[in-house]
Amino acid sequence: MSIRRIARRVLCTLAACAALGATGAQAGPLRICADPDNLPFSKSEGPEKGLYVELARLVSQKLGESPEFVWWLSYNQRKALRNTILQDGCDAYFALPANADYRVRGLLKTRPFLDLSYAIVAPQGLKVSGLADLQGKRIGVLHGSPPHILLASRDGYTTTSFREHEEALAALEKGEVDAAILWGPNAGYENVRRHGSRWQVTPVSGEGLGGQVAVGVRKGQDELAARIDKALGELQPQIEELARKYGFPRGKALPLSARSVAPDTRTANLAAGLGVSSKWVARTNAPAASAATEGIIPGRTLFNNVCSHCHGTDGASPVSERDLRKLQRRYKDSWKETALTTIKNGRQDAGMPTWGATYSDAQIQEVIVFLATLQK
Ligand code: HEC
Repeated sequence: MSIRRIARRVLCTLAACAALGATGAQAGPLRICADPDNLPFSKSEGPEKGLYVELARLVSQKLGESPEFVWWLSYNQRKALRNTILQDGCDAYFALPANADYRVRGLLKTRPFLDLSYAIVAPQGLKVSGLADLQGKRIGVLHGSPPHILLASRDGYTTTSFREHEEALAALEKGEVDAAILWGPNAGYENVRRHGSRWQVTPVSGEGLGGQVAVGVRKGQDELAARIDKALGELQPQIEELARKYGFPRGKALPLSARSVAPDTRTANLAAGLGVSSKWVARTNAPAASAATEGIIPGRTLFNNVCSHCHGTDGASPVSERDLRKLQRRYKDSWKETALTTIKNGRQDAGMPTWGATYSDAQIQEVIVFLATLQK
C-alpha cells in the first residue's frame, strides 16, 4: 500500500471524512479531473477551454455545484486515474472510453455521451463516399494508427505516415498528400481553428476506428454517478452544440472496413486514445513504454494495441489462420522461429503486414514471449 493511501486511510478515520463516506453526499464543489493540455478536449489556461471543460461546467450547473478543476496529464490515462480520482483527488473524470472492455477497477462509468472516430480529411472538391475514392491517392495517416494498419493491409493505397496531426495537415496544405485519415476531433479542430475550414472532414466507422466516451466516477459514489448520468442525458443538445463549436466531425459516419461493425472490444489502442491527446494517438506505436508503467507483460500491450484488430484480443481470433493460440500446435518446435520471421517480414500475399521496420527485435521478442503464454 502506498504511503499516500495509508495517509488517506488515517485521514478518513476523522469524523468529517467518515460522515462524508456514510452519506455519499458531496460536500462543497464538484471536483473535476481533466487534462491541462489536451485541446480540443480540455485546457487549463487560455481562452479556449475545450469540450470536456465546458461540458463539466454545464454538468456542475445542473447538479447545483460549483466546478473545481483538478489538472493531470492523461497520455498515460491509467496512471492519471490512479493518481487522481482513484485516490479521491477528484469526483468526476472527463472522460473515459465507454466501451465495456475498458474497465478500471474502482471506477463506475456514466452513459456514453459522445461519439468519436477517425475521419477522412480532404479538399472540398474531392468526392469522399467510400475508401475506394482514395485509391491511387497519397493518404496521410498517423504512424501506427488503425487507419495506417488498415490501409497497409490493402492493395492500391499509398500512405505517408506522420507523428502529429498538425504535420499531416501541413502536408495536405502543401499538396504532399491528397487526403488524410486522422483522429476526427483533433483534425476537425485544427481545420476550424487554423485552416479556415478549408477541408471536408468526414467521420468514418469500422473496427478500431471509433468509439464513445463516458464520465468516470469512483465506485461507492453511485448517487453522484446517477446524477451526472442524468445531467448528461439532459445536456445532449448542448453537447452536440459544443461538438460543432470545436469542429468535431459530425454527421453519418462512412463505413471503412469491409466488415463494418460497431467499435468492438478489440480496440485497445483507440480506447486508450479516446479523448486524450493527439500525442497519445501518435504514441500508440510505443506501447512498450506504457506497458512498463502498467505492470503487465509488455508484449501483450503491444499485441493488443497493434495486432489484435486482425488477430483478436490476446490472439483469440475466430478465423483459424489468424488464431495465434495455435502456433505451437501448427509449427511444433519451430513455432517461435516461424512467428519471428512472419512478424518481421509479414506475409504480404496473405494480408499480414511487415513489422520489422516498425519494431525492434527486442519488442518483437517481447510479443513472442507473450504469444508463448497463449499456446494450447
Ligand atoms: C491487417 C491485419 C493484420 C495485422 C494488423 C497483423 N496481422 Fe498477423 N497475420 C495476418 C494474417 C491475415 C495472417 C495469416 C497469414 C496466412 O494465412 O498465412 C497473419 C499471420 C500471423 C502470424 C503467423 C500465424 C500462423 O499460424 O502462421 C503471426 C505469428 C502473426 N500474424 C503475428 C502478428 C503480430 C505479432 C502482429 C502485430 C505486430 C500482427 N500479426 C498484425 C493479419 C494481420
